[in-house]
Amino acid sequence: MSRKPFIAGNWKMHNTVAQSKELAQALKKALNKNNADIMIAPSFTSLYAVAEVLKGSNIILAAQDCHFEEKGAFTSQIAPSQVLDTGATYVIIGHSERRSLFGDTNEILNKKVKAALTRGLKVVYCVGETLIERETEKTYAVIQDQIEDGLKGFTAEDLKDLVIAYEPVWAIGTGKTATPEQAQEVHKEIRTLLAQKYSEDFASKVRILYGGSVKADNVDSIMAQPDVDGVLVGGQSLEAEKFIRIIDYN
Ligand code: PGA
Repeated sequence: MSRKPFIAGNWKMHNTVAQSKELAQALKKALNKNNADIMIAPSFTSLYAVAEVLKGSNIILAAQDCHFEEKGAFTSQIAPSQVLDTGATYVIIGHSERRSLFGDTNEILNKKVKAALTRGLKVVYCVGETLIERETEKTYAVIQDQIEDGLKGFTAEDLKDLVIAYEPVWAIGTGKTATPEQAQEVHKEIRTLLAQKYSEDFASKVRILYGGSVKADNVDSIMAQPDVDGVLVGGQSLEAEKFIRIIDYN
């Protein structure tokens, strides 16, 4: 089964509107024909401006989160329809920083996924274990819960556009990368889990990205793994040249 590669950049809390536009412009200029889906996720404040820059390009625009309610008294929160209104078509849900710093539980994330899908946003759903969970051999149990509870109540049809990102928390922003073999092992396990939960067909089509200190030096060997379909890049997506090198992996 060949799955189209998916290379995503999560800009996190970086860049002014002007800087975001400049970076998006540089990517648009350099990336006119790709064999991969390319996605960028700027801050909420830059989404609309970046959407304008990306017009006429096939770079996908994503938000880094959304709320699960559609409107109301939720000071500071952004609804899925507001994300769509900026021109973004995807949303990252369940990033480990949301889980660890902002209290997003699997139950909350389940509501966010539901709200996003209901509104027609596509979802990149993140899973991954902490260092202590890995050291105590809880990696698979943790990921299983994140998938079972976070994606509860959906059919394979509901999730047909779902992208999963495996991001071991101990590898995010730390310079420590999972070895390509470690990434492959977990990706394979996730695919097996999805085959049991939905179907072999579903599992063979879903794209699973690896994230955590991806850079030019390691992207080739990570992407060479059979169950790795793409990467979710943080730090190295903030400079056009570095991100383009990652997109041009061998
Ligand atoms: P990093 O971040 O590439 O800076 O480690 C990855 C992520 O958090 O998505």
